[in-house]
Amino acid sequence: DDIFDEECDYLFKAVVIGDSGVGKSNLISRFTKDEFRIDSKPTIGVEFGYKNIKVRDKLIKAQIWDTAGQERFRAITSSYYRGALGAMLVYDITRLSTFVNIKKWLHELREFGNEDMVIILVANKSDLSHSREVEKEEGKVFAEKEGLCFMETSALQNLNVEEAFLQMITIIH
Ligand code: GTP
Ligand code: MG
Repeated sequence: DDIFDEECDYLFKAVVIGDSGVGKSNLISRFTKDEFRIDSKPTIGVEFGYKNIKVRDKLIKAQIWDTAGQERFRAITSSYYRGALGAMLVYDITRLSTFVNIKKWLHELREFGNEDMVIILVANKSDLSHSREVEKEEGKVFAEKEGLCFMETSALQNLNVEEAFLQMITIIH
């Protein structure tokens, strides 16, 4: 890892946001460590995930910032977004309110984030289709209207997780 750090061509900062319980921390741990926790605790403040990836012969160190969805656990907003090149906006397909709140998160992102940040809308928990409250098409239409990339994922089943992160990271490099 140390050797990789010295030879790393780029540091890529990305932020992951969305309501509490949508699966932000599990998406990150699935991507960076291939780990999933059914009993994960709400995030307090900010946590970090790292993953070294190779894109077209460039070595990139992805630094992924994970923040609390719960307002009372959130850290200062402006520093969270500073320098971020990518953002992942996450909702839970089984809870309509988390999709409705995407508007609020997008507003915060546009207020504090870099103008040319790559934003991907992620509809998580696709494995729970029997209790689905948000159709895939609704997410897609919203993303198109707002000019965002879109993907349905399952951190539990490891579906589209790597694809979603890589889409966000490789568009830039
Ligand atoms: P905060 O830190 O409070 O903002 O929440 P979070 O968005 O980080 O959610 P977290 O990753 O802690 O996941 C919340 C719950 O959802 C946990 O019980 C996870 O096991 C579960 N979960 C996360 N992703 C999935 C998924 O893809 N499918 C299913 N079925 N459960 C998931
Ligand atoms: Mg969390």
